[in-house]
Amino acid sequence: MEYELNRAEIPQHIAIIMDGNGRWAQQRGLSRSAGHAAGVDAVRRITEECVRLGVKYLTLYTFSTENWNRPQEEVAALMQLLLDRMDLSLFMDNNVRFRMIGGLERLSQPVQDCITLFEKETAGNTRMTAVVAMNYSSRWELTETMREAVKLAAKGELTADDISEDYVSSHLQTRFMPDPDLLIRTGGELRISNYLLWQCAYSEFYFCETYWPDFMPADLHKAIAVYQKRQRRFGLTEEQVENNGGRLK
Ligand code: IPE
Ligand code: IPE
Ligand code: MG
Repeated sequence: MEYELNRAEIPQHIAIIMDGNGRWAQQRGLSRSAGHAAGVDAVRRITEECVRLGVKYLTLYTFSTENWNRPQEEVAALMQLLLDRMDLSLFMDNNVRFRMIGGLERLSQPVQDCITLFEKETAGNTRMTAVVAMNYSSRWELTETMREAVKLAAKGELTADDISEDYVSSHLQTRFMPDPDLLIRTGGELRISNYLLWQCAYSEFYFCETYWPDFMPADLHKAIAVYQKRQRRFGLTEEQVENNGGRLK
């Protein structure tokens, strides 16, 4: 099915919880790692489709701080997959800037080197920013921000009056981008799993049953079509929003 998209109302920032790789593989009698490998193909096609549609920021939940507790072989296979399949040409050919959010220090040196290289090589790309959340969780991010603020306060460089919502937003890992307009979770679970808790305060949520390796551009179009039918009110009344020209962004 084709979905009519309003090209003027494409979400500026889409965040995705790419879930369901393991179940996709299990259904086929494959290893969970094979599911992650199939998930990489989906990353590629959805990144390219977001570029084509004019999305400006795409934030992909790739590995949470809690995912370290998975079987060691699965964690190792995932990290190896990143090294083997992270492809600079995907970003260079599409004029996409690559960024990572999360704690770099716990990743292996080769993974750190790869991320640093990609960030450096793609720094001048302007069409879209693709962000991978690796060793990321929102509680970790908020805790780090608080810790840093207290350190500055102890040195006399920050006071209680300096702390505002803008201060918090501009000291999170995500400080270089606007909040997500649309959060998509594939794989059927109805939860946020420690992703972008602060940033999703007013995001529109879209959940679908499709496992991530099966997620196609047409599924993305459907998610955006659903998003475009919603009215974002940001606490106002429907009437106020209508009087403001239909939508408040
Ligand atoms: C998401 O797929 C990818 C990661 C968390 C790395 P899962 O591996 O969680 O797949 P399911 O939820 O077990 O099917
Ligand atoms: C969320 O998926 C993390 C990523 C997609 C990287 P999980 O599969 O880890 O989430 P839970 O455990 O089902 O909440
Ligand atoms: Mg999962």
